[in-house]
Amino acid sequence: MDKLLVHGGTSLSGAINISGSKNASLPILAAALLTEKQVIIERVPDVSDTNYMLQILSALGCEVERYSGTVKITAANIHPEAPYEIVRKMRASICVMGPLVARLGKANVSIPGGCVIGDRPIDLHLKGLQGLGAEVDTEGGNMCITAEKGLIGKEIDLRGKHGPTVLGTDNLMMAAVLAEGTTIIESAACEPEVVDLADFLNSMGAQIEGAGTRRITIQGVRSLGGTHHTVIPDRIEAGTFMVAGAMASEDGITLNRVREDQLTEATHKLIEAGHLVTFNEAGNSVTIQPGDQPSGCAITTAPHPGFPTDMQAQFTAMFATSPGISVIEDTIFPQRFMHCAELTRMGANINVDNGSAIVHGVDQLSAAPVMASDLRASAALVLAGLRAKGSTEINRLYHIDRGYEMIDEKLLQLGAKVERLRGSI
Ligand code: EPU
Repeated sequence: MDKLLVHGGTSLSGAINISGSKNASLPILAAALLTEKQVIIERVPDVSDTNYMLQILSALGCEVERYSGTVKITAANIHPEAPYEIVRKMRASICVMGPLVARLGKANVSIPGGCVIGDRPIDLHLKGLQGLGAEVDTEGGNMCITAEKGLIGKEIDLRGKHGPTVLGTDNLMMAAVLAEGTTIIESAACEPEVVDLADFLNSMGAQIEGAGTRRITIQGVRSLGGTHHTVIPDRIEAGTFMVAGAMASEDGITLNRVREDQLTEATHKLIEAGHLVTFNEAGNSVTIQPGDQPSGCAITTAPHPGFPTDMQAQFTAMFATSPGISVIEDTIFPQRFMHCAELTRMGANINVDNGSAIVHGVDQLSAAPVMASDLRASAALVLAGLRAKGSTEINRLYHIDRGYEMIDEKLLQLGAKVERLRGSI
């Protein structure tokens, strides 16, 4: 297992390019199952989650080629059995359910296991597919979803107790593109990644309207063709480095290949916390400079266009050394506060209670050996390490490699002092 040593106290400077979005890439890769024609997808980040998805697609019978960010997939001869050994490694594997049932009338996929960020049921995914007429059986830890006579379009409300579901909306949208008739998804997720998937599907010949709003209408078509698509920038990677610029640079850092319209909430909160965020005119490059009088503030996560839960841990790390009191509430994953215990080991003053964290900013963090518990928690620890006095050792680095492309190289490019210790226990 790799570790990351972060030698704190160096000021970051310079510029980096933001990678393509992991969370947009995963369902888009799965959507390649919907056609027998070749699809070409550019700017797929080289992270372990996209690698798992490509392994699943290969195991389902797809021909997969990958070179420097470009992935070519041909799903001419596929079968419906997704292998447990790969599926269990990544929850987003459930994205293959919708496309497999739509294309083959059948999907056999393992039920995803527990998740450290909280309870992550799949009831809404199944509700969506059942709404289109699929039958669901569970046996031996697997779900067998069948629609022998094909799927039939319907109006389906996907709202759950924590609001809309991103991958649930994706799964239903992917199933509905080949269903007979019209499907209307009410209470749909409207994250930019859902819009990117809809753009990808429409470029294959699907007829989807309303992606990016709470109501998506899908007119089913008989078949889809090949396409060539470029994945949107990763707004969470960009947001993470924006926080790094605010926390650990003197004169600021610049991030290229971003989209201003997808960074609204992170930008507002950084400004509210006293920092300077400047986009270029095209909105595809941003410079973040730390303010003279930073302060803590309140954050409540919410479905898009609210503040993303995937940025909560990184802002918590920033508020650990921001003067004043910050109150952070995660309404989407109320248990997603594992990073707080590790930040506390580094000297932060954080109390977690019932879906909220109260952070009293301290002057200085001090390095400690810490344990990454999930992807964004690991990012928070890296940020804290950049700011801390001494060398922070981050264990279980595989969490960060799931979703941040070449994080150590990008940090080195910005002048950080980090070392990856390969294969350490
Ligand atoms: N939910 C249900 N039933 C379901 C599905 C979800 O109750 O069938 C609940 C969840 O428990 C949660 C809420 O609905 O409380 C929202 O979960 P959602 O389904 O939207 O999450 P997801 O689609 O599984 C994606 C991202 C996550 C991100 C969430 C929320 C991908 C691959 N994953 O997950 O990203 O946190 O949306 O925005 O797109 C990450 O990148 O670190 C990450 C965890």
